[in-house]
Formats: sequence, C-alpha cells, structure tokens
Amino acid sequence: MKITCIGAGYVGGPTMAMIANRCPDIEVTVVDLNEERIAAWNDPDLSKLPVFEPGLDQIVSEARGRNLAFSTDVNKAISEANIIFISVNTPTKTYGTGAGQAADLKWVEKCARQIAEVVDHDVIVVEKSTVPIRTAAMIKSIMSAVGKGDKVKVLSNPEFLAEGTAVEDLSEPDRVLIGGEDEAAIQCLVDVYAHWVPRERILTTNLWSSELSKLTANAFLAQRVSSINSISALCEETGADVDEVARAIGSDSRIGPKFLKASVGFGGSCFQKDILNLTYLCDYFGLPEVANYWKGVIELNDWQKARFAQKIIKTLFNTVADKKIGILGFAFKKDTNDTRESAAIYVCRDLLIEQANLAIYDPQVSLEQIIADLEYVGITDARQLAEDGHITKVTSAAEAADGAHALAVLTEWDEFKELDYAAIHETMLKPACLFDGRNIIDRDQVTAAGFQLYSIGKGEAKEAQWEVR
Ligand code: NAD
Ligand code: UDX
Repeated sequence: MKITCIGAGYVGGPTMAMIANRCPDIEVTVVDLNEERIAAWNDPDLSKLPVFEPGLDQIVSEARGRNLAFSTDVNKAISEANIIFISVNTPTKTYGTGAGQAADLKWVEKCARQIAEVVDHDVIVVEKSTVPIRTAAMIKSIMSAVGKGDKVKVLSNPEFLAEGTAVEDLSEPDRVLIGGEDEAAIQCLVDVYAHWVPRERILTTNLWSSELSKLTANAFLAQRVSSINSISALCEETGADVDEVARAIGSDSRIGPKFLKASVGFGGSCFQKDILNLTYLCDYFGLPEVANYWKGVIELNDWQKARFAQKIIKTLFNTVADKKIGILGFAFKKDTNDTRESAAIYVCRDLLIEQANLAIYDPQVSLEQIIADLEYVGITDARQLAEDGHITKVTSAAEAADGAHALAVLTEWDEFKELDYAAIHETMLKPACLFDGRNIIDRDQVTAAGFQLYSIGKGEAKEAQWEVR
C-alpha cells in the first residue's frame, strides 16, 4: 500500500507523519511544490521542521527514511499511489466573485487536474483540505472528463486536528470522519486509520455530510469563543468575572467546559475562513438568515480584537504615540509558530496606526513573518518601521518590557505565567500597565508588584482605571 499526500503544510506534514508512524506497512510520500518546505521536512536537524508542534519531531524521526518521505516530485508520487490525499491550502478568496468570503479552490482544482492527467490505475482520492460542500463533485467531474471516472474514487476525510496539540489530536482523535459513495474505497481508508484508531471512532457518512460537518464543527467551536467573549464585555461593565461565569456554565454537562476561555479574540487559519465560506454557501443557496446568524460570530470577534487595542490606548491616557509597548506573543495560540489571522496582528496594527513603538517577543515567530503579517493588514511601511526601530523583535519578555509603558499578553505561552513580574515592573515606566489578553496572569502577584492590570472580562479593571484617572 502506498499513500501520497499533496501539500506538506500544517495538516499534510503532521497527518502523514502520524499515518507513517502508526502504519509501518504503508509507504507514505508527502509532496509539495515549495522546495524550501520540503528541504526543511528533510532536514536532519529536527528543530528545523517547517511546522512547530510538540512531539512532532519524535514522530517524524521514527518514520522518516523508513516509510515516510518528503519530495517535490509530485507526478512520480501520484503515479505510484493507491491513495492520494489532497491537503493543499483553501484560503478565503481575495479576488473576483466571492472575494473576502468564498474559499479559493484553485489549488484543489490544480491537484485534481494533475491527478487526472497522471494516473493510469485505480486510485482513491481523498479530500483532506477543508472544502465547500459539493467539492467532491468537481473532482469527480474532472476525472470523468478525461475518461478516468471509473478508476478514481473520491472520498472526503476532513481533518479536525488543532495546532499546538496536533500530535495528541492525531494520535487519539475524538473521531475520524470518512464520507463517500464507494463502499470498497471507504473500507480501504477505514483500514488505514484502524491501525491505531478504535473502529467505533471512525464515522462514515455520505460525501456531502462529511464536507459540511467540517465547516459546521469549526463554526460551532468559534461560536463558543465569540459567545464567551461577548459576555466578557458585559462582565467588565458589571463586576462579574468571565472565568467564574465560564466555570459555572461549563459545569452544566449540556454545555461542557471546553472552548469557553475568554480571549483577545480567536485567530488561526481555519475559524474565520471556514465561517466565511459557510456564510457564502448560505447566501449562494438563498439562505441569508442563516448566513447572517454565522456572520455575527466573526463580527463579534473583530470587535473583541479592536476593543482590546482601544482599551490599551484609552488606559495610556488616550495616546500611545512614541510610547514603547511590549507585545508578549504573536502566534495565534501557544505551542505553534503559526500566525495566520492571529489576534496579535490586528492589535499591533491598531497600535501602529496610533504611532506606538512595539517590541515584540514570541518564542517561535520571526521578524520576517511579523512584517509580512502587518503588511497584509495594511501597515504597508512595516519593513521601514522595523528598520527605523518602531517595530522590533526582541528575544525575551524582559527585553520587551524594558523602558515600556505597557505590556500586552496576546498569546498564552506558558512562560508568560512564570515571569518575574516584580523585576519586570522595576524596568518599566510608571504607571506600568499590563493588558492580559489571555487571562493567564496571576492578579495578586502582579498587582502586588505594582502593575495596573487589565484582564479580559474582569469587573475590577474598570475600578482600577478610575483610580488611576
Ligand atoms: P498550508 O498552507 O500550511 O499547506 C498547504 C501546502 O500545499 C503548501 O505548502 C503549498 O505549497 C502546497 N500546495 C499548494 N498547491 C499545491 C500543488 N498543486 N501541488 C503541491 N503542493 C501544493 O495549509 P494547511 O494549514 O496545511 O491547510 C491545508 C488544508 O487543511 C486547508 O484546506 C485547511 O483549511 C485545512 N485544515 C487546516 C488545519 C490547520 O490547523 N492548519 C486544520 C484542519 C484543516
Ligand atoms: C481549529 C479547530 O479546533 C480544529 O478542530 C480544526 O481542525 C482547525 O481549527 P486551531 O485553529 O488550530 O483549530 O486551534 P483552536 O484550538 O481551535 O484555537 C483557535 C483560536 O481560538 C485560537 O486563537 C485560540 O486561542 C482561540 N480560543 C480557543 C479561545 O480564544 N478560547 C478558547 O476557549 C479556545
């Protein structure tokens, strides 16, 4: 059995590494057009893998060179495979019809066309990328158009891993979902996962339910974050504590405790993109009420990010111009080097528009990435700002704080919980403010150190601010 995966990104790399690791009898090849990425996957120095995920280096090192290979020879890998996963990017379209809402399927379509051209044998094509409902029909019609409709069976197998916990999620998934029409093809893919996933956790459905379940799962998860974030604003007005509210409601087994952590806003490559895609589909199918319901989840998230930046500006006496602000964390969550749609990008953008000087510390994100992200959201002179010292990437939280008016925690990296806040306070301008966008900071410890602390959804913040004024 040979498996090929097209796309060696955050999903293709870890997912295939896990399959190869758990199925020594299957040869797995991951291919990508991006030569640099493939070289990084092949780097003997495991700290250079292109995706940072706890435990991934171990999984890769056990299988690479045995039954796991990374290559740029896409045609060869297609021609040899029994199963081909398509795991390429499907970002929000930035041009033409559906710009800013629909998923851009050009990479998926290119893969389908390349497979149609190259294969000359029976093969199963698996949609691993997150795609709009009925994408499998497009793939099937491309195969049929070149007379290969009978050779190629199409399955949907969406990926539910979360970044930062990818290895755990892949090794013990809540469920594996396989949608399809051909029983033999479905069974073949079930057998791959059954190497390590209990069969009762492998769900099979029709193609369209599987495709739609992926968008729906992300919409529901994001909705929970927006729901608790909406309540966080009300907590701040009234003296309630959002973490206490989350604990109280999360203890109800019908609600459950997960995904109720109030924050500066959700980020990541999936939530926003997939909800936008869902709303596009609803509008397309003449269901504007459904589309508007889900749009609210994104609008609330945008508001939460902007509200946080405004809180910083207001607290610093309505101006941050020429003031140093230390930014702790730039990744969209801890334990990943991914910054796609990170709330930090938008908070930093709003502060730069107000002419703040930002000293950014993140243990995994490079200055190049920060500049690219800021340029993408309209700070077109980000590179110049970096050259002139208005945006700096520093190597520790203490360095970010030195001489700063304020610190803002934007990613919940564990190390930010354990900093010596008393020593950090000493080096900052006074009043020294700490804006905790993740509610991970010990209030008693930092207020005793002299900080003015603002946390998300904590009523006391308002009173503290009145005292300063
Ligand atoms: P990514 O951008 O990290 O990786 C995609 C890779 O595909 C890139 O390296 C790109 O060079 C390659 N590629 C594109 N077209 C190609 C082609 N024609 N031939 C060969 N290689 C090609 O994306 P990702 O984060 O891995 O996401 C992939 C898909 O999985 C998306 O649809 C995404 O929505 C979905 N998904 C992502 C996550 C996540 O946590 N990132 C989780 C679940 C699902
Ligand atoms: C998500 C889904 O969880 C995963 O199943 C899917 O396959 C891909 O999209 P991911 O985006 O990698 O995964 O991370 P996730 O843990 O879902 O976090 C998304 C964002 O929500 C992060 O910015 C995170 O900080 C934020 N979040 C999450 C909160 O603010 N509060 C929470 O309670 C949970």
